[in-house]
Amino acid sequence: MATRIFSGIQPTGTLHIGNYFGAIRNWAALQADHDCVYCIVDYHAITIDIDSKALRAASRAMALDLIACGIDPKRSILFIQSSVPEHTELAWILGCITSYGDLARMTQFKEKSAGRKFISAGLFSYPILQAADILLYKAQGVPVGEDQVQHLELSRRIARRFNARFGEFFPEPEPIVGRGARVMSLADPTQKMSASAGEANTIGVMEEEPSIHKKVRSAVTDTGLVAGEEMSPGVANLFEILELATELSGDSAIVEELRADFKAGKLMYSRLKEVVFDSLMGVLRPIRQRRTELEASGKVEEILAEGTKKARAIARENIARVREMVGL
Ligand code: AMP
Ligand code: TRP
Repeated sequence: MATRIFSGIQPTGTLHIGNYFGAIRNWAALQADHDCVYCIVDYHAITIDIDSKALRAASRAMALDLIACGIDPKRSILFIQSSVPEHTELAWILGCITSYGDLARMTQFKEKSAGRKFISAGLFSYPILQAADILLYKAQGVPVGEDQVQHLELSRRIARRFNARFGEFFPEPEPIVGRGARVMSLADPTQKMSASAGEANTIGVMEEEPSIHKKVRSAVTDTGLVAGEEMSPGVANLFEILELATELSGDSAIVEELRADFKAGKLMYSRLKEVVFDSLMGVLRPIRQRRTELEASGKVEEILAEGTKKARAIARENIARVREMVGL
């Protein structure tokens, strides 16, 4: 039997190339030989103050983005978290076997709560809901970025505690970290590309081509180039993006050539940037094409309804068993 995979992404903001290369492309690849369940986690999104009027549309937009990026609803289950209320039911039960101390240790909570005037209980118990997402489907593998490994450890701990207390039921989910791609901001290559750092720091998967061109052309590199010297963070990041973008096309000759030029101290950054831009657009253009077609077809609601049906069938069966085991 194929291994069950689960992963989730918040419907906040549009996808940037860090999300794509660091996470979503990995999700798509796993579909080849796994039974995948992918979820747009809107319950998680409301743990901080967000624009409620825009949330529904953002969740649907994320579904379009994911399908355009290669998540295939024929092979995988794709749905919006709040359409399967069993997630919150399981979260309550798991919350009762999770300690306050475990939650207080979570670095993401410390980061996200820092400087906030209002810190919701939901933000604090966020990792319990995440554990519920995964365990509800008895997933064994969870593709995530490095930053989520601690949450996965907690999910395993919760699974172990449930099994010890109520009887063996949940597998312990393992993180699947991929090759650890980490895309940095082009404007400030010392920080991770992240939506929260502002628009100038990200390159959107669906962003207008001239705007991407401008950002790549003005990427921070360094002042001079001396043969034999180490790469600056900005140049290293451009090479990283180039490698990620050419990974599938097998176009590695150009990467080798530019690397050799760098070593010899004769690399023209303007040329590197043009090659990065071209390779990146080679990856992004077909994604946009698919997104436009899909949006025009108006099929996303139908796809999500189908995903909900399939997810809910699994969720219902597992939650019924959990209720029995817990004595509810
Ligand atoms: P976020 O939007 O930060 O919640 O991230 C969603 C997913 O994309 C997570 O799996 C992250 O690990 C991944 N991700 C976010 N930013 C980057 C980045 N700059 N490089 C690589 N992966 C990223
Ligand atoms: N916390 C994850 C993030 O910020 C999103 C998420 C929610 C998730 N539930 C999940 C990831 C379950 C993997 C599995 O990226």
